[in-house]
Amino acid sequence: MPPDYCRMVRDVRRARKLVARGTAAAGSGHPGGSFSMAEIVGVLLFGGLLRHDPGNPDWEERDRLVLSKGHAAPGLFASLAVAGYFDESEMDTLRSLGSRLQGHPDLRCPGVEFCGGSLGIGLSFSVGAALAARLDGAAHRVYAIIGDGETDEGQVWEAAMAAAKYGTDNLTAILDRNCIQQDSHTESVMPLDGPGPPGRGAADKWRAFGWNVIEADGHRVGQLHAALRAAAAHRGAPTVVIARTVKGRAVEHMEGNPKWHGKAPDPDVVPIIEAELDCQVAVAPSITAGGSPDLEGEARRCEEAGADLVHIDVMDGEFVPARTFGHERVARLRRATAVPFDVHLMIARPEKSALLYAEAGGDVVTVHAEACGEDTFGEIRDALRSARAGVGLAVSPGTELPEWAVRAAPSIDQVIVMSVVPGRSGQKYMEEAHGKTARIAARLRGAGFSGTIEADGGVGPENAGRCFADGARALACGSSVMGAPDARAAVGRIREAAAAERRRLLVREAGRLGGPALVEKWVGLHGGGCRAALEVMAAAEVA
Ligand code: DX5
Ligand code: ZN
Repeated sequence: MPPDYCRMVRDVRRARKLVARGTAAAGSGHPGGSFSMAEIVGVLLFGGLLRHDPGNPDWEERDRLVLSKGHAAPGLFASLAVAGYFDESEMDTLRSLGSRLQGHPDLRCPGVEFCGGSLGIGLSFSVGAALAARLDGAAHRVYAIIGDGETDEGQVWEAAMAAAKYGTDNLTAILDRNCIQQDSHTESVMPLDGPGPPGRGAADKWRAFGWNVIEADGHRVGQLHAALRAAAAHRGAPTVVIARTVKGRAVEHMEGNPKWHGKAPDPDVVPIIEAELDCQVAVAPSITAGGSPDLEGEARRCEEAGADLVHIDVMDGEFVPARTFGHERVARLRRATAVPFDVHLMIARPEKSALLYAEAGGDVVTVHAEACGEDTFGEIRDALRSARAGVGLAVSPGTELPEWAVRAAPSIDQVIVMSVVPGRSGQKYMEEAHGKTARIAARLRGAGFSGTIEADGGVGPENAGRCFADGARALACGSSVMGAPDARAAVGRIREAAAAERRRLLVREAGRLGGPALVEKWVGLHGGGCRAALEVMAAAEVA
C-alpha cells in the first residue's frame, strides 16, 4: 500500500499534541522519548504498514507492535487514540487511578501488545512472538520499538543473538536512536557507537550480531516507510532499522535536552506547544530548477540537501509554453529516492492524468484552479484519495482562490500560491503574493482546512521568513536551492529564516494567551542562542 504521506504527517502532529495535553494533565510522563518516536509509531499505524484493525484490537492476523521503551507510553497511547482505538479525550486520564492509560503500557489498553514496564525486555518478548508466529504458520510480523538507553541491558543483546540464530525474518526492531537516556547523553553514560566511527558504531554492533541493518532518518516519514518496507522484504535474518531521531523533536525547547526525558510541560504552555506543532516548515526543492537533465542525480541532491519533499514541476506545453516530462518519467524517478514527491501539474485537463501521477509515486498531486472547475476538481480529488495521494490545488498570480475551493477546504491537503508566472524557475518573487497568501490563509483558517499552504516561485533565504509569516508552511524553492553551490547550506538558511519567524509568532501567541507573564515563562523554557533571540523578540513585542 502506498504511504499516504499527508495523512501520516497530519496524524503524527495530532498525536504529538495529545502527548503534550496528556502529560500536562497528568503532571508527569515522558514527552521527550514520545516525540522522538512519533514518526516511527505514526508510519506504522497511519502509513498502511501495520496490518491492524482499531475496531478489533484482538484480530488474530494483526501485526504485533511492541513498545519496549515503555516509558514513551504517552506517545503510543496518543497514536493509538488518533488511529481510532479509543477516544482522544481519554488522554486526559493519563496516569490517573483507574485509567487504562498508565505511565507504562499495560494490556488493559486496546492496541497494547506488551507491558513495557521494566526496560530491556521487549525485544526478548518480540523474538518469542516471532517464533510463535512461525510455529503457528501465521503470516503476521512483529515490530519492536526499542530505545537506545535500554540497549545498555545485556538482555537486549541476548535477544539479538537468539533472533539471529533462529533467523526470525518476521521480526523488525526499530531503534529510536535519539542519543539521550534518562539523565544524559547515551555516549557519555554507555557509548552505543563507541568505539566504532561516530554515528556508525551502533549499526556495526547489530551487524556483528547477525542482523540486517537499515539506517534511516527517524523523522522523515517517506524514508522511514521505505526502510520498514525493505525490512519486511528481507529474508533469512531479522532487521533492525536504526532510526536517527531527536529527543523532544518538534518542540524547540525540548529538542536534544535530557531535561525533557521525564518531565511534563506546564499546562499553561500547552497551547503554545500546539501552535508550534502547527508551525513546522517543509522545504521542497524544485528538481528541474538546477537545469540538469540527470533527474535521478538531482533527486539525490535534494535528499542530501535535507529536503522534506521533492517538488516536481510538470509542464505540458499547453497550460504553459514549456514542456517537461510525463508520469512515466516520474515513475522511473520514484526509484531514485524515498523523499516524498510534491508533484505540481501545470497541465491542461488535469482530470485526464492526475491519477496517473499519483500512481507514478506522487505523494501530493496539485492541479491548477485555472485548469479545472468545482466538479472536475471533485473528480480529481476522489481519484487521488483512492490512490492515497494528497490533494493539492494551485492558483497562479492572477487568480484568487475560488469560493468552491474554500468550500472544499476540509478535503484539500495543499494549496499552492504561485508567486511567479508558472512556466519556468529563476523568476523574481512577486511582492503582491505576500498579501495574497495571507488573505488565502485567513480564508482557509475559518473553513476547516487542515492542510498546508505552499509558497512557490522565487522563494529563497531572503524571503522565506516573510512567506512563513504569511501562512505558508511549505516552501517550493527552485533556483535558490538547486542553483546554489551548496544546496544543503541553502536549505539550512531557508529553514533558519522560517524558524526565526516561528519564534516570533509563538512569542506573540504567548502574549495573546497570557500576557507578559506567559511570554516570560515561554522564553524562559529556552536555552542558548534561541533564548537570546526570543528575549529580543519579547522586548520588541512589549514595546
Ligand atoms: C514555476 C514552478 C516553480 C519554480 C520554482 O513554474 O512552478 O516551482 O520552478 O523555481 P524558483 O524558486 O527558481 O522560482
Ligand atoms: Zn512548482
